[in-house]
Amino acid sequence: MLFSEFTADRPCTVVLCRGCCCGNPGKHPGTDHVGQLERLRAGAADGGFAVRTTDCLGPCDQANVLVVQPSTAGRRAGGRPAWVGFAMDDDCTDEVLAWAAAGGPGLSEPPVTLELQFIRPPRGARARSRR
Ligand code: FES
Repeated sequence: MLFSEFTADRPCTVVLCRGCCCGNPGKHPGTDHVGQLERLRAGAADGGFAVRTTDCLGPCDQANVLVVQPSTAGRRAGGRPAWVGFAMDDDCTDEVLAWAAAGGPGLSEPPVTLELQFIRPPRGARARSRR
C-alpha cells in the first residue's frame, strides 16, 4: 500500500528501496548503502519527515531507487510521488534530505540536479499515484 497510506497528518516520506539490487554492495560496490540509510534517518529525525525502507520497487536497472512521497499537505497542494533513480552518491542524498526537510513534493521545488534523476515509475505505481 505504498501510495495510499494517507492520514490526516502524514509527513513527507522518503521510501528507500532495499530489495534485491538497491542497497546491495555486491551489485553496486563503491556506494555506502548503509551510510545512505543512516544519513536519511538522521535527517528525518531533524527535518520533520519520515524514512522507511521497502522491498523491490521494480526498476532494478536504475538502482538505488527511492521515492519521495508528499505529505498530506503537499498532496493537497498537487504534489505527487517523485521517483529518483541512480541514487548512489552523497550529492543525491544531500539533495533528497534538503528537499524533504523543505516539505517535499507540492510544498517546495526539488533541486534541479535531483530532478535530472527523476525516473518514470512502473505502470502500477503510476496508476496508484493518480488516485
Ligand atoms: S531492488 Fe530496488 S528497484 Fe528492485
